[in-house]
Amino acid sequence: MCGIVGILGSKPVATDLVDALRRLEYRGYDSAGIATVENGHLERRRAEGKLRNLESRLLSEPLTGRTGIGHTRWATHGRPTERNAHPHMSAKVSVVHNGIIENFRELKAELTAKGHSFETDTDTEAVVHLVSDELDQGRRPIDAVRAALGKLKGAFALGIIFAGEDDLMIAARQGSPLAIGHGRGEMYLGSDAIALAPFTDAITYLEEGDWAVMRRSGVEVFDRAGECVTRPLVKSVASSLLVDKGNHRHFMAKEIHEQPDVISHTLSNYLDMANARVAFPDLGVDLAKISRVTISACGTAYYAGLVGKYWIERYARLPVEIDVASEARYREAPLPDSGLALFVSQSGETADTLATLRYARANGQRIASIVNVRTSTIARESDAVLPTLAGPEIGVASTKAFTCQLAALACLAIALGKARGVISEAQEQELVTALVEVPRLISSMLHNEEQFVELAQALSKARDVLYLGRGSSYPIALEGALKLKEISYIHAEGYAAGELKHGPIALIDENVPVIVVAPEDDLLEKTVSNVQEVAARGGQIILISNANPEKIGCALAAHIVPPTAHPLTNPLIYAVPVQLLAYHTAVFMGTDVDQPRNLAKSVTVE
Ligand code: AGP
Repeated sequence: MCGIVGILGSKPVATDLVDALRRLEYRGYDSAGIATVENGHLERRRAEGKLRNLESRLLSEPLTGRTGIGHTRWATHGRPTERNAHPHMSAKVSVVHNGIIENFRELKAELTAKGHSFETDTDTEAVVHLVSDELDQGRRPIDAVRAALGKLKGAFALGIIFAGEDDLMIAARQGSPLAIGHGRGEMYLGSDAIALAPFTDAITYLEEGDWAVMRRSGVEVFDRAGECVTRPLVKSVASSLLVDKGNHRHFMAKEIHEQPDVISHTLSNYLDMANARVAFPDLGVDLAKISRVTISACGTAYYAGLVGKYWIERYARLPVEIDVASEARYREAPLPDSGLALFVSQSGETADTLATLRYARANGQRIASIVNVRTSTIARESDAVLPTLAGPEIGVASTKAFTCQLAALACLAIALGKARGVISEAQEQELVTALVEVPRLISSMLHNEEQFVELAQALSKARDVLYLGRGSSYPIALEGALKLKEISYIHAEGYAAGELKHGPIALIDENVPVIVVAPEDDLLEKTVSNVQEVAARGGQIILISNANPEKIGCALAAHIVPPTAHPLTNPLIYAVPVQLLAYHTAVFMGTDVDQPRNLAKSVTVE
C-alpha cells in the first residue's frame, strides 16, 4: 500500500517527513519522495528503491521548507521509477496519492486537449493537472480542489500543497484511510496514526468522502457535499502498537474498512490498469499447458478457492479440483501430469495446507500459493507466490485477506483464460475494468452500516441461521455462515440454494432467519423459487441482492442492496455485507470480536 505523510511545521520538515515515511515502510514500497514549499515555490526530491536513497538525495540537495508532503509508492500505474515516484507536481501544485483514479485516462485526454503536458504514466498526475487547470481559471486553492474532487472517480487518498501557500495543506479521503494529527502550532497528515506517532497522539480520522483544509492553527473538515463537519479527536495508541485500530472499535472493523485500499493494491500487482490488461508475474510454468488446477485450503481461504474454481472453470475453461486441506492431505488423490497445485492461505503457516502442499510436490505438481505473509513457510515451499497485499490482518476472523485472495484469484483466472486463448482482448478489457471498479463499489457500502446494526439485533436472537447462494455466490453463503458462527457463536450453515429441498428445508420455521446471497445474474430466477419455498414455510428472509424486490414476489424480513456489478466481481462485492452482518451481530452479542473463543489466527497444528 502506498504511504502518505504531510507536515505544516514550525521548522524545516524534510527530515521529519522521511522519518514519518519510515514508519510506513511496513506497507511495502518501491520508491519514495517529498515536496516542500521553498520561498513560495514548490521543490521536490524523489528516489527509486528504499528511503536511504531519498535521504542521500536530500543530503546532496537539501530542502528547507516548513510545509511539505511525502510518499512511499507501491507502483500501480507505471513502473517503479523516479519519474513515476510521488509527489507529482506542476508549478502550482504538488500531490501525493494512495489508491486508484479510475477515470484518469479520460481526464488525461481532456487536460491534454487543453494544453497540459503529462510527463509520467501515473494516474496521480491527472490530479495535478486537474487542480492546476482549476487554478489557471482563477479559483482559490480550496475551490480548485473542491471542483477537482467532483471530477475524480475511484478509491483514493490525497495530500496536496500549493506554490505560494506556506500555511495550507488539503487532504481528501475516498476509500483509502487518512489521519490528521494535531500538534502545537503544527499539523500533520498520515495514511494512518503510525506515521504520526513521533509527532502527536491527537488524531482526527477522515471519514469516507471527507476532505480537509489544514493550517497550522487547525483543520476544517468538509463532507462529500461540501458541508463543514466535525470529526472526533481521538487519542492514538500507535506509538505502542505497530498496527492500531484507527478510529474503529475492533481490528475486524478496521480491516473490513481497509478493503477498498488493499484490494486496489492487490489488483495493481496483477493488472496493467493503464491499459486494462492483466500483467501477471511469471509463474515459471506455461499457463497454456496446465492440464488441471488443484486447489487446497482451509476455512475462509477454502471458500476463496471455491470462488476461484467457479471463475477458472467459467473464464479459463480449465478443470479445477478443490478440497479442504485436512481431507486432501489424506485422500491420496491421483494428481495429473502438468497439473498446477494452488494453495490459499492468509498466514501461510496452516499445518493441513502445508501438508497438502508437500503431498502435491511429492506427486510432481507445480506449486503456487496465494499468501498474505510473503516470508511464510507455504510461500517459501512454493515454486511461485501470488501475494495478497492486505497488510497485517489482526482480527482472527479473516476479512480483507479473503477479498484480496479473491482479487488475486480473479486475475489468475483471466491470465489463464488469456494464455489458453479462450478470453479475447475485448473480454480481457471488460473483466479488468470490472475489477478496477471494485474498490469504489465496496467503498459505497462501507458508509451505510446502520442497516446492519438493526439487523444484528434480530439475528442475535436466532438459534440457527441458514445462508443460501448459487454459483459463485454459494461460497459467499458458506463464508457468511462461517463469519457469523466464529464471532457470534450462533449456529449457522451455508447451503447451495438448490440443495434446500433435499433436506435443510425441514429446518425452516419462523425462528430460523434465512440469509439469501443473490445478485441479479442468470441464476436469480432459480434462487427466487427457493426464497418462495422458504417464505411458504414462514421462514424469515434476509435478502442480499441488487435485484428489485418485486422480482422476489414474497415478503422479506430485510433487503440489503449492494451496488450492481459485473457478474465476475459479485463475490467480492457480496462478501462485504455478510462480513458486516456477522460483525455487528457479534458486537451486539458482546463477544470478543477480534479474539473469538477457541480460535487462533493461524492453525499451525493438525
Ligand atoms: C477465517 O475467518 C478463520 N479465521 C479460519 O477459517 C481461517 O480462514 C483458516 O484457519 C485458514 O487460515 P489461513 O488462511 O491462514 O490458512
